[in-house]
Amino acid sequence: MPEMSERLLDLAQEFIQTRGYNAFSYRDLAEATGITTASIHYHFRTKSDLGQAVVVRHRERLIAYLAHVVAASPTKTVLEIAEDNGIRIDYDCRSGICGQCKTKLVEGRVAMDTQDALDPIDRSNQIILCCQARCLDAVVVDT
Ligand code: FES
Repeated sequence: MPEMSERLLDLAQEFIQTRGYNAFSYRDLAEATGITTASIHYHFRTKSDLGQAVVVRHRERLIAYLAHVVAASPTKTVLEIAEDNGIRIDYDCRSGICGQCKTKLVEGRVAMDTQDALDPIDRSNQIILCCQARCLDAVVVDT
């Protein structure tokens, strides 16, 4: 990706995170980069295209980060990895019985030794037990 496109994505992400998507414009990007709004449209035809590109890049970076975390913790559960990284997931028994740690698996694959707290509906809806799930690859869960 061209350097200016990356710069625009960086700025757009910063604006989205600090102001919100609706509170910045191509004019703000033009002022910050010193290029014209027409040039910004060359890189991203619409603001919607830019917003989508920011989300896609952020998601790719998150997946790469998670893959790194998983590779560094091959024997840990999703709950343990989350705790190591300051992410709070509710739990109680930590043995797959209570179901307190049920979470939706959004992306990736896990293996669970015990699934006693999951019913068939949970399983069909990609619900996992974070205290039992060990990552087989980069995993995204809905916490
Ligand atoms: S904490 Fe009880 S099932 Fe995971």
